[in-house]
Amino acid sequence: MAEMVEERDEAGNMLQTKKYNGEYFVSHFIGNVKDHLAAIEEMEVRDDDTFVMSYPKSGTHWTFTLSSMLRTGETTYHGSPTFLDFNEMEMLKNMPSPRIFATHMTFDRLPKQAREGKGKILAVFRNPKDVVVSLHTFIKKLDHSDIIASWDGLIKFFLTGKMVYGSWFDHIKAWEKTKKEYKGDNIMYLIYEEMKQDLRSHVEKMASFLGADTGKEFLDQVTEKCTFGNMAAEATKTFKPSDQWKEVTSTKTLPIYRKGQIGDWLNHFTVAQNEYFDKVYEEKMKDSSFTFQFK
Ligand code: A3P
Repeated sequence: MAEMVEERDEAGNMLQTKKYNGEYFVSHFIGNVKDHLAAIEEMEVRDDDTFVMSYPKSGTHWTFTLSSMLRTGETTYHGSPTFLDFNEMEMLKNMPSPRIFATHMTFDRLPKQAREGKGKILAVFRNPKDVVVSLHTFIKKLDHSDIIASWDGLIKFFLTGKMVYGSWFDHIKAWEKTKKEYKGDNIMYLIYEEMKQDLRSHVEKMASFLGADTGKEFLDQVTEKCTFGNMAAEATKTFKPSDQWKEVTSTKTLPIYRKGQIGDWLNHFTVAQNEYFDKVYEEKMKDSSFTFQFK
């Protein structure tokens, strides 16, 4: 069974999670974790379901927005995705098609039917230095966060895997295994930095992967709607007082859209922090097939 645990380091940095089977889940993960994981495993998947999968702060909202436009054929902005992780199964089951789910878990935690090829999976990855900067600025905007840490403390937590959803390196390792072993053709791997550099070609590839029957003009519109600037502006415009984020931010604004850049970590890391990060990164990623662009 899951238990709420609070861990502190000697400097007072704090991580609060639901710990289950030695793994860290977000505190608002449904119930005792075990039962919800079992319900997800058995969930009925529809042919037009989409699963957006990511480590936190890696472009979840971006990928969700792109796929929801491509799946619906409309350039309407739909706010934040519905997570498998923190929504009751009854609600997930009853969502109208096309359903687009997000999760910060890895492939092994998807519904069995998705792991057997039903529905489409978009897995997005981002360089971890920008991930940790994005996370740092994100948690500072929240009134209640599972992590309360200084910048230096957060880097240490990140590199030692004391994070909600566990270590970024373990997340990548789990996906390496999937890449190697899974023979299905319903996963598309996306890299944040590559999307940023050429969004139009990604929109086209995603449309073809999702089987979206759309013309060139629509793909141009989706590309335009999903630039960082336009998504950030749209998010502010359409943010409703009822949105989930209102509960966690006293500013009552969406804490997601910040800079949307590659390499903002250069404005945050000290030389010593960067050396420490590089040392751990080189060691942990030495056999990895993932390569990331850091600037
Ligand atoms: P920054 O904090 O570096 O700006 P997630 O949705 O997984 O929580 O990720 C949030 C990060 O994705 C934030 O990064 C956010 O600005 C960035 N992002 C959101 N939409 C984007 C877009 N259209 N283009 C580039 N980055 C985007």
